[in-house]
Amino acid sequence: MHIGMVGTGYVGLVSGVCFAEFGHTVICVDKDEGKINSLKNGDIPIYEPGLEELLKRQIDAGRIKFTTDISEAVKGAQAVFIAVGTPSRRYCRDADLSYVYGAAREIAENLEGYTVVVNKSTVPVGTGREVERIMREEAPDADFNVASNPEFLREGAAIDDFMRPDRVVVGTCTSRAQDVMSEVYRPLYLNKTPIVFTKRETAEIIKYAANAFLATKITFINEIADLCEKVGADVQQVARGIGIDGRIGSKFLNAGPGYGGSCFPKDTLALTRAGQKYGAPQRIVEAVISANEDRKARMADKIIAACGGDVRGKKIGILGVAFKPNTDDMRDAPALTIIPILQQAGAEVLAYDPAAMNSAKELISDVSWQDNAYDVANGSDVVAIMTEWNEFRALDLKRIRSEMSGNIIVDLRNIYNADEMLDMGFHYISIGR
Ligand code: UDX
Repeated sequence: MHIGMVGTGYVGLVSGVCFAEFGHTVICVDKDEGKINSLKNGDIPIYEPGLEELLKRQIDAGRIKFTTDISEAVKGAQAVFIAVGTPSRRYCRDADLSYVYGAAREIAENLEGYTVVVNKSTVPVGTGREVERIMREEAPDADFNVASNPEFLREGAAIDDFMRPDRVVVGTCTSRAQDVMSEVYRPLYLNKTPIVFTKRETAEIIKYAANAFLATKITFINEIADLCEKVGADVQQVARGIGIDGRIGSKFLNAGPGYGGSCFPKDTLALTRAGQKYGAPQRIVEAVISANEDRKARMADKIIAACGGDVRGKKIGILGVAFKPNTDDMRDAPALTIIPILQQAGAEVLAYDPAAMNSAKELISDVSWQDNAYDVANGSDVVAIMTEWNEFRALDLKRIRSEMSGNIIVDLRNIYNADEMLDMGFHYISIGR
């Protein structure tokens, strides 16, 4: 099967490479010539474990190609995916859909034979309908359907999520488009992955509802963690105690410094906007957004309180700045809120992250960036763990203790055992325990 992929950002690239791995022939197109040239050589511009190896394998197998000419990707393809960016507009944070609509026009001009045009970019409800309208206007006689196929990829685990998803959601009303989409996902279908066919608007809502629900789950356990701290309970045991109940489920119940990333903050906001627009207020999600924002700032207060309420002239070492492990992504990372508050309060901040330091340097100033966790600990009064990278789970704590000038560890990800930390002579503060 021939697949066109318009846009080689995170979603487009991961999807294109994985479709090639399924055995399809994929042509990826992007306007950015420099990016296309590197991709032709198998170099990827993003950090995603396993992606580069998979890409090189598919290039060698001749199943994936890159071009700047959209006609090459569209002509003769049975399915063309739109995976272009939908950046937040500068002042209102509404998604800017001009790239999606631009792609729709260009695809329409190049259609050849029956084609399913599939929206993979995360877009507000109703965008599929508008894409179809634009394409009909551009090419009234063309034979096509527009479907919605939201992605549920987690950064750092995207390939696994693509190859072994819990489900695939496809929004389309025609059986012709359903047949093409079944063929696209045939390898998963054979693995018995549920493929949920719905109306287009339903598929668009599923994407937002899934992310908003997960963000709500995290925010819920974060507030329970606050209560646990006040009453002497342990939030990890609470999470286990409720998560075993199949109706609740144990995933996404890790209390922490608040969610960040490219999806949850943007999608929760978009859902509340849609609620306002259509007169169906999403009050729970509105509360989640404000609780999460509040929380990030309160994490800085927690570190300051751990230092006795005053951090003037203190050295604070930060382990991890990315919004989560296995990514270099800094979008809406709690560190972006926490570090400036500590600096304003008079602290000197040292930090290390295994992958995100380059992106972080452009966003946070006056941080002394270090090469590893031990250099961060060196001379620090307090060390705060902000991202649960595996390498921070296996630190030589004796060495950390001897490098530090103080003994306070603030673990915002609960990766250590409180009793063990006490035994090692740390003053250990974590979340909700
Ligand atoms: C998310 C969704 O999981 C994915 O399906 C969607 O397509 C894109 O958004 P991602 O943003 O990559 O993926 O990361 P995820 O692992 O979901 O974590 C999001 C945020 O929630 C991170 O800041 C993480 O630290 C936080 N989180 C997650 C918690 O604080 N506690 C948890 O239990 C889980």
